Amino acid sequence: MTDAPHVPVLKSETLALLEPGPGRRIVDGTFGFGGHSRAMLEAGAEVLGLDLDAVAFGVCQNLTAEHPGLQCQNISFRNMDQALKDARWEKVDGVLLDLGVSSFQLDDAEKGFSYRMDAPLDLRFDQTKGQTAADLLREMSEVDLADLIWKWGEERGSRRIAKAIVRGREEEPVLTTWQLRALVKSTMPNHIKVQPILSRVFQALRIAVNDELGALTEILAKLPVLLRPGGVLVVISYHSLEDRLVKQFIDREKRDCLCPPNLPMCVCGHQASLKALTRKAVVAGKDEEATNIRARSARLRAAKKI
Ligand SMILES: C[S@@+](CC[C@H](N)C(=O)[O-])C[C@H]1O[C@@H](n2cnc3c(N)ncnc32)[C@H](O)[C@@H]1O
Repeated sequence: MTDAPHVPVLKSETLALLEPGPGRRIVDGTFGFGGHSRAMLEAGAEVLGLDLDAVAFGVCQNLTAEHPGLQCQNISFRNMDQALKDARWEKVDGVLLDLGVSSFQLDDAEKGFSYRMDAPLDLRFDQTKGQTAADLLREMSEVDLADLIWKWGEERGSRRIAKAIVRGREEEPVLTTWQLRALVKSTMPNHIKVQPILSRVFQALRIAVNDELGALTEILAKLPVLLRPGGVLVVISYHSLEDRLVKQFIDREKRDCLCPPNLPMCVCGHQASLKALTRKAVVAGKDEEATNIRARSARLRAAKKI
């Protein structure tokens, strides 16, 4: 194990695909602690680092003294087109999206990302905008909460948990991570391990609060225009729904016609914009899995603009 605040996942695989080097401009849409970006800067590339999180943005800014080829913006990757304009970049040679949450965010009690520390139930990457997880738990109906926990947490006990939350909030508002933890625990017999269930409930709330699938859908639609011919997209996902979105996007964009097969001729006029660089999702090797727990659920897919 390492003491670094965040160990980048599938780093060598990412670098082999993005081929950072002098004269190459790469957007790191999820800068985080800058693990991937540092390696790309050291290889000589220019990097535009984006992150919604103020701490990650600060880490990026501090690094600019050491790396003049680095620019930073505290903005969502869904607005990458705007970010490029502000950076005075046109098309780019590569885009990296290493989705989800980083280890330093999980360790930051203030954000409420982890049920291990008692903290306000926030879960926003950008703590200046939008609803917190506590807001969602106050406002959503039992049915909607159950759907959310089922869909984005893939948690089978979603209905029981939603019911306990709604009952609990009638007594007092659910404002902290440990209140939520207690409510989830109250739905289960003592001999069942609660940690995996808590992880799934917190994941579902985090995805909802940050509209993570919406942001991914939006940026994927914009990417073919932002990449220059030959430019490479690398996405590392940690959730099956994210990975499915990326897979379906690449499968669609590598095809010339999207018409149903029974049509005698193409009427959609769609033209392929990408070539897949990964036939199946790339996963971490045994050594990486053993030393970096986050790597176990990582799925990397990549494509090249044609
Ligand atoms: C898994 S971490 C990235 C880690 C990074 N690759 C590294 O090596 O340190 C994901 C980061 O993406 C950020 N993030 C999540 N959604 C975002 C979005 N829509 N726009 C910008 N940043 C986002 C999070 O705040 C977090 O810092």
